[in-house]
Amino acid sequence: MLPYDMFDATRTTAEARRAQKLESIYHRGQELAWNGREVLGALIAKHGGVHVPEGKREALSRIFSILMWGELAAWKISAQLADALVPLEAKMAATSQAFDEARHFYVFHDYLCALGPVPPAPDRHSQAAIALVLGTRSLAEKLLGMQLLLEPMALTIFHIVRHLGVEPVLSELLEYYERDEARHVGLGVQELPELLRAMRPDERARLLLFQLRILTHVLMSLKANDPALRALGVSAREVLDLGTAKQDHAARLLFTELGIEPTLGGEILRRTLGAACAVAFPNGDEGFSTRMKRAVEILRHGLTVASVPLTEVQ
Ligand SMILES: [Fe+2]
Ligand SMILES: [Fe+2]
Repeated sequence: MLPYDMFDATRTTAEARRAQKLESIYHRGQELAWNGREVLGALIAKHGGVHVPEGKREALSRIFSILMWGELAAWKISAQLADALVPLEAKMAATSQAFDEARHFYVFHDYLCALGPVPPAPDRHSQAAIALVLGTRSLAEKLLGMQLLLEPMALTIFHIVRHLGVEPVLSELLEYYERDEARHVGLGVQELPELLRAMRPDERARLLLFQLRILTHVLMSLKANDPALRALGVSAREVLDLGTAKQDHAARLLFTELGIEPTLGGEILRRTLGAACAVAFPNGDEGFSTRMKRAVEILRHGLTVASVPLTEVQ
């Protein structure tokens, strides 16, 4: 059934402003759409092929297996959103995202084929995080999981790999990805306030639990992939710190839209995860007692997070 009454409700000024921003996500997506075959082909020609130092090839393939399959998940999830969201402008934004994610998936696939065999399935925790967002029927959970938790993590790895300069074709390619992914965060920021306001307290509690489950899988995945990350020149801890800062940036954008301060439940979740990370992900060669002290400090006073943009790519 089509929602024939979709234009019946009158909008508040704030709702109308958000709808306008969502509509512009779609139009910006059209203007900035890039031809994946042409861009990848030109970059490979410019750099004379894909060249990775032998010690880093397997690690790169392992990390980008998560990202390539993550792009397929993002494609499916944005198509689910494009189908399920009712307001015209939100539907347009999700549809434009599905178009971007299709390009992201096939370009990563083609790039990774140039690097070696097509990567196998990612580690089980990455699979579990993806399955949670794909499988939920709640639109709020889907938007929060995809747009505000997984997109900032992908932006983090793109940023780091680009700056490490692991492989020149990839470094230039990732600029295109970052520009698109930062736009996708906007769909969550603009569409979630309406959904959050309509939620009952028990639904909000479930949303918090959902967030905790995803973040736990992301942390376990980082731990499992620490050796591959180190082979590329970065530790899981560094990825985690930047990832937390980017997720924090997205969350602040959302809270500004909502016009409220972060909730108590959210703050407890943040402190608990922050403390667990201080213990599980040592900074350099920190000993156990230093890590425990840091964890207690986070539990008592909160987590201090650096202020970073979603992307520095214009
Ligand atoms: Fe993507
Ligand atoms: Fe995306």
